[in-house]
Amino acid sequence: MSAHGSDAARRALLLAWPAGHSLSPAMHDAAFRELGIAARYEAREVPPEGLAEAVAELRGPGVLGANVTVPHKEAVLALLDGLEPEAAAIGAVNTIVRADGGLRGANTDGAGFLRALRQDAGFDPAGAEVLLLGAGGAARAVAHALLGAGAARVGLHNRTPERAAALAAAFAERGELRVLEAGELSGGLERADLLVNTTSVGMARGGRDPDVSPLPAGLLPRRALVVDLVYRPARTRLLREAEAAGLPTQNGLPMLVYQGAEAFERWTGRAAPVAVMRAAAEAALRPS
Ligand code: ATR
Repeated sequence: MSAHGSDAARRALLLAWPAGHSLSPAMHDAAFRELGIAARYEAREVPPEGLAEAVAELRGPGVLGANVTVPHKEAVLALLDGLEPEAAAIGAVNTIVRADGGLRGANTDGAGFLRALRQDAGFDPAGAEVLLLGAGGAARAVAHALLGAGAARVGLHNRTPERAAALAAAFAERGELRVLEAGELSGGLERADLLVNTTSVGMARGGRDPDVSPLPAGLLPRRALVVDLVYRPARTRLLREAEAAGLPTQNGLPMLVYQGAEAFERWTGRAAPVAVMRAAAEAALRPS
């Protein structure tokens, strides 16, 4: 091995199952190159029964940290030495950092979401009336971030209302959360300053745009910024309909880039080259 052998072995890992379509390798490798950091980002296919071993490997030499995604974001908590406050509150980890000789769990989804809102859409959530579609892991991160940023009220609407109720109960002390049943949706849309789709409805499957919206036909907000966390396709049916109605929109790519930037900054201690990361993610999204 050359004198630079240990440098060349530096890496950040993605633990996922499956890992196939992730944009993170393209994004982080471009960032490492841009800053002249001799490291690689490697996606690992880790089945649930292999998670403990994969996390143990992160304690070895050369590992800067890791990202964690479906289906490991919750199971990984028990394997770490500590948690950042957001990760503890959300109950999910998307980033692992080497710290104080151990592994610390972070959740950068919420921070990434807020950065996308503020920097790319020019939207300040303080005092805002929000309507959130969905009640899964992404909804938890987004709801937590919005309440922390001073949103006045967050309405939750989900196909399975019990899940929305559980989310509302979990964050009840952090702010005003309310479950909206189907019949209350149009009123919620009327009042909303911000609509966020955190469900997977509208996401491409097998490369095809399913051309479905998470909102019932004919319903749209009156004046809200419409954010869809889906970025494949780049413009979902929800975003196309919102645009056609003259509403401002944002897809999930800015949040993806900023959650990655927040992870990169923790691993390297350097400011992430966000424009380079975004260009790499966009290039990886384009059909070859
Ligand atoms: P994530 O961590 O990405 O949020 P998740 O926990 O699986 O993923 O949550 C997916 C969300 O999309 C949920 O709110 C889910 O609704 P349910 O709680 O009713 O399952 C929502 N979702 C997925 N497919 C849907 C569909 N066809 N119609 C409506 N909602 C859907």
